[in-house]
Amino acid sequence: MSLLPFSWLRSLRPVLGPLRYLARHGWLREADVDAVLRWLSPAWALTRVYARVEGRQWVADDMLELRLRPNANWRGGLPGQHVQLFIERDGVRLGRSYSLIEHAGGCLTIAVKRQPGGRVSPLLLGQLYVGDVLELGEPAGALRWPEDSRGVLLLAAGSGLTPLLGLLREALGAGYRGPVTLLHYVRERGQRAFAEHLQALARQYPNFQPRWAISAEAAGDGELSGRFREAHLDGVPVAHVLACGPAGFVARVREALGPRAASLQLESFTPPVWASDEARREVRLEFARSASSHRGDSQRSLLEQAEAAGLRPAHGCRQGICASCTCTLIAGSVRDLRSGALFSEPQQPIRLCVSAPHGDVTLDL
Ligand code: FES
Repeated sequence: MSLLPFSWLRSLRPVLGPLRYLARHGWLREADVDAVLRWLSPAWALTRVYARVEGRQWVADDMLELRLRPNANWRGGLPGQHVQLFIERDGVRLGRSYSLIEHAGGCLTIAVKRQPGGRVSPLLLGQLYVGDVLELGEPAGALRWPEDSRGVLLLAAGSGLTPLLGLLREALGAGYRGPVTLLHYVRERGQRAFAEHLQALARQYPNFQPRWAISAEAAGDGELSGRFREAHLDGVPVAHVLACGPAGFVARVREALGPRAASLQLESFTPPVWASDEARREVRLEFARSASSHRGDSQRSLLEQAEAAGLRPAHGCRQGICASCTCTLIAGSVRDLRSGALFSEPQQPIRLCVSAPHGDVTLDL
C-alpha cells in the first residue's frame, strides 16, 4: 500500500537532496531512510531505483511485455542495453537481466520470456500486476547500431529478439536507410514475439524485411525451416551483423559469418561453455575475506564453485553482461570462459560467472 501517490514522487524529489547529504556523511543510515520512504511509497528510495508496473501485454504465447515507470533515481538507459530486475518473494531477492526495448515518456519497456524451470520469469509472468513495484539495477551492454548504411543483418534466437528490436526501432525512426533484414529463430510459430509489430514496421519502412525460421513445426510460406545455417542467408546482404541468442546459436553465427561480415556484434544470454580438450584438473580455491579454502576444478565458473562452497557472491545475469559479480583476483590465474583468454595480473577485476580457475586461485571474496 502507498500513502503517497506515485505521481507525487518526482515533485517531492528536492526533499531527498538533504537526506542524501546526511546519509553520505554518515549522519543517517541509508537503509533506515529507505525504510521510511518505502513506507510512504514502495517506489521511493534515496538512491535505489524502483519502478512501478504501468502495463502488461502478451506479445507471444510465451512472452509478456512490461511497461515500467521508474522513480526519479533512474538515470536512463539505451535500447539494446540490459537492466537487472529484482523481485523479492518469501524473503528471497531474485534478479535477472532483461533488455531495454524502449525508454520513452518516462517509461521503459522490457519483455519477459517464460523460461521452463526458471525462478524469476514464472514470478514476473504470473504474479506481477499493474501497480506492483520492483527494483531495477544499472543498465549495461554494448550493442550499438552500425553507423554506415551498407546494411544490417539482425539474427535473433528466442528472446534474443528484444535487444535487437529496441535498436531496430530506434534506427528506423531516426532515418536509417540501408537494407535491414531480421531473421528470428523460434521453435513454434506462436513464439514469434512482436510479429505484428515487425510486419507493421516493414510496411512503414521499405528497407526493412523481417523473416522467421521455425524449428519444431513445419515451416509455412515465406518461412525458413530449422536452426540457423548459412543457407538461410541466400540473397540476404551481409554487411554489419548483430546477433543475440543462446551461446550455441551465437557460436554458429560467429563461425559462419565471422570471415564475411564487415562487423559482427554478438551477445549471448546463456552462460558460455568453454569447449576445450583440456582435461578437468583439481585446483585450490582460496576465498580471502571468508578465510576459507576449498577444492575446486578448472572447468566450472568461479561463481558456480563459490556458491557450491556455501558463499553467496553478488550476481545478476550469470552471463558476463551486468558486472554484478565482479571480484578482485588476488593471486593465481583464471580463464575467460567466453574467449579462453587467461588472466593472472594480481588485483585485476574479474567476472566470476564467466571465469574458471586455470590453477590455484585466491579471490577477494
Ligand atoms: S552475474 Fe552478470 S556479469 Fe556475472
